[in-house]
Amino acid sequence: METAIKLEHVSKNFGKRRVVDDLCLETHTGEVFGFLGPNGAGKTTTIKMLVGLIDFDEGEISVCGADVRRDFEKAMANVGGIVENPEMYRYMTGLQNLRQYARMRKGVTEERIREVVELVGLTNRIHEKVSKYSLGMRQRLGVAQSLLHHPKVLILDEPTNGLDPAGIRELRDILRNLAHRENVCVMVSSHLMSEMQLMCDRVGIIVKGKLLQVTSVEELINQTKGTAGRYHYAVDSAERAAEVFRQAGQESLLVDERHLEITLSGECMEETLLKLNRMLFEAGVGVCTVSPVETQRLEDAFIELTKGETQIA
Ligand SMILES: Nc1ncnc2c1ncn2[C@@H]1O[C@H](COP(=O)(O)OP(=O)(O)OP(=O)(O)O)[C@@H](O)[C@H]1O
Ligand SMILES: [Mg+2]
Repeated sequence: METAIKLEHVSKNFGKRRVVDDLCLETHTGEVFGFLGPNGAGKTTTIKMLVGLIDFDEGEISVCGADVRRDFEKAMANVGGIVENPEMYRYMTGLQNLRQYARMRKGVTEERIREVVELVGLTNRIHEKVSKYSLGMRQRLGVAQSLLHHPKVLILDEPTNGLDPAGIRELRDILRNLAHRENVCVMVSSHLMSEMQLMCDRVGIIVKGKLLQVTSVEELINQTKGTAGRYHYAVDSAERAAEVFRQAGQESLLVDERHLEITLSGECMEETLLKLNRMLFEAGVGVCTVSPVETQRLEDAFIELTKGETQIA
């Protein structure tokens, strides 16, 4: 595992507005890193700085050890990226587009072109004009294009925008394979927590230009897991079950005659559940199922972290 991207105390102002504020971040090869934040948080701005599209005011950025200011060419040789819509010639085929692009990069062989086309699953449609492509196919072509020069870092700004669920899933598989099998550092931005949860190994949460937290997806989910848990009970009599819960000092929410929910908080959820279930049994309440109510936990964590930050800065 090597350091891929390193940002040290990076700040960026647009006029008087500071849109990226003292950002420090390190990502590694072999991981999918998610850059998560609400609209206007500074994701695209940060990504533009990383791929050399705009300059920054303070701090330092390096890619695979090469400083983007002192060693621009070397740093950029390790980066592939799509920011906003990838540039494509619609009257050319997918393959012609890739060849055109390859001419601008050193050392891209026909073999490599075939390889990336295969990788993004476009082999069957690569001889068609881009004007006949769907949005998802253009996204794939964009990913193929940004991989042509074997970058160690692939940066994609909101790559799943506009894709259907099947397309999102396929892109997710492509990106995870790139990271985990080809040891690329894949960095994606998004404001969709549920998606990041499935796609990323780690996420960094950015709000108003500040990086609030960097954690593994697992940790982020666990953070909320420890503090609250909702359980759904299917029983033969919700009213009697509610009475038993009340005796145990546990409030419940009646859903209908046979269903109710409780919310447990604190560290000893399992203990409490064991106790409650035993009490139900002893009181002769028939329990059919007990199931945790799946909330989108990462989303909860995200909203908790960005509390009150609903206005665009
Ligand atoms: N060229 C620019 N000139 C002035 N302000 C800009 C410019 N580009 C971005 N901004 C401002 O910087 C802030 C961050 O924008 P940015 O595009 O980085 O957000 P984002 O996190 O990518 O949001 P979104 O989820 O909406 O894409 C916003 O307040 C935006 O208005
Ligand atoms: Mg953006």
